Amino acid sequence: MTKSLHVHLLPSLVAPEVFAGRAVVVIDVLRATTTIVHALASGATAVVPCLEIEDARREAKRRGTAALLGGERGGRAIEGFDLGNSPEEYSPARVAGKTIVMTTTNGTRAMLRCRQARRVLIGAFVNFSAICEALRDEAGVDLLCAGTDNQVTREDVLFAGAVVDDLVQTMAAAGATGGALELNDQGLIALDAWRAAREDMRQSAALVDKLRTSHGGRNLIDIGHDRDIDIAADIDRFSIAPELQLTSWEIR
Ligand code: MLT
Repeated sequence: MTKSLHVHLLPSLVAPEVFAGRAVVVIDVLRATTTIVHALASGATAVVPCLEIEDARREAKRRGTAALLGGERGGRAIEGFDLGNSPEEYSPARVAGKTIVMTTTNGTRAMLRCRQARRVLIGAFVNFSAICEALRDEAGVDLLCAGTDNQVTREDVLFAGAVVDDLVQTMAAAGATGGALELNDQGLIALDAWRAAREDMRQSAALVDKLRTSHGGRNLIDIGHDRDIDIAADIDRFSIAPELQLTSWEIR
């Protein structure tokens, strides 16, 4: 089998039709995808991604008392919403048994571009190995970085590079039976970035230092959400690979 593995450093760099028939991983390490993984690991029934604040309000109203509204604009909680976008807010006590109707500036927006995909997975460092495992037998994979306000972000590129690295190594280890890999240039860029960062991490700096100095990391520090960066850097805290069900439009 030839595996086609394509990284997209921003949603605007790829036409939605490209995803048709393929498995897409949406990546917004700081913080939407990290928070969604936390919510589901805490027992939330589902997360429903919405584009606009008003769409989310309508959807939550339709779902009644089982729904909670979550998300952010400019990193801050939205007026009248139950939850912001900090992973820690999504504790079992708060979200177990609830459906989270969520809208964020970039992360949920990126998900809305994936309607034509065959599968849509939600990836972040907190569920890194589960995502790699879910992609093992997929022939066509796209890693979609959400970025921030149409700017490429380091944290999303590093995660994409880490997934590429894992898949490259797994295929190499399998030898001739592993098949061939077709990787786009954005995938090679992400792989180089991750390998350089990993080398540095072996010497001294931890992943959290890389995330702190990223654009998204600096934004979070500015608005007093430093702790969310530590949480986002907690590799493999969870072993779930949430998937956006394309017919019901729920992440489970
Ligand atoms: C987003 O979707 O834009 C991010 O998750 C922003 C944030 O850090 O809250």
